[in-house]
Amino acid sequence: MKAIIPAAGLATRFLPATKAQPKAMLPVLNKPAIQYVVEEALAAEADEVVVVGNAQTQAIAAHFSPDEALVAQLEGRGKTNYADEVRRVGSLPVSFAEQPEPLGLGHAIHCAAAKVLGDAGDAEAEPFYVLLSDVLVPDNALLPRMLASSRAHGGASVIAVIRVPREQVNRFGVIAGEPVEGGIWRITGMVEKPSVEQAPSDLAIFGRYLLTPRVMELLSRVAPGAGGEIQLTDALIELLAYEEVYALIVDPDEGFDVGTVEDWLSTNLRLAERAAPSGAAG
Ligand code: UTP
Repeated sequence: MKAIIPAAGLATRFLPATKAQPKAMLPVLNKPAIQYVVEEALAAEADEVVVVGNAQTQAIAAHFSPDEALVAQLEGRGKTNYADEVRRVGSLPVSFAEQPEPLGLGHAIHCAAAKVLGDAGDAEAEPFYVLLSDVLVPDNALLPRMLASSRAHGGASVIAVIRVPREQVNRFGVIAGEPVEGGIWRITGMVEKPSVEQAPSDLAIFGRYLLTPRVMELLSRVAPGAGGEIQLTDALIELLAYEEVYALIVDPDEGFDVGTVEDWLSTNLRLAERAAPSGAAG
């Protein structure tokens, strides 16, 4: 099973920090955000992670490449723990697809289609994960629950959602649906950034998807939507006409947002508190 991490957006909310550096490489404690997300996918039966990048995101490829000279220098100085970590990061199964222009999240995902579907005919192609590095799940427990839910529902697509305060629904993609069992909903509709009055629920799409191959096919022909971009949500709305789609509600304590400067900062503080032995923070 493959996982796609789109990382070719403009990252306007972090400018100027992201002028010469990809947003996904911003550190959260001592690791770039994208490393958490790669490790999360690999902990959930993904055998390869495809990062969708562009000419400006070379630093991501460099981060996941072997660096024998650095390893040798660290070992020469007796810093074997660091050497081991540098070696491990350089050996993770990460490959790259290119999105030459930022034409939207849906377009970015479709740029990885050949790598994810391979030569398999549509009937044999596997489902795949999509992970946005704007949110972190450092416990790595969410994707396995999504996979189990998918398998329990005949291999259906499963989308992670999180409850948000009603007055904030207009910042997110929001689902309509009905609960089917603890923490799982069957989705009947989706709407991008609805008004507070028109939002069908308070369940916002969270940035983790387990999708059937049909989504790639739909992405290849979905028309540009909001902002002239190819939107993943538009393809998922079309998917509902063909297949059942489920939502899994994320535990509020397991998801960490790093998509805005404020959220990135507070996630650093929350994770630092978690990492510090009790009483030693600060
Ligand atoms: P966002 O919509 O949050 O955009 O993309 P952004 O570029 O990251 O940030 P802002 O809104 O300009 O501040 C969600 C994810 O989809 C990727 C982004 O890199 C991000 O990880 N993306 C978005 C692409 O890879 N290509 C695109 O064309 C658009």
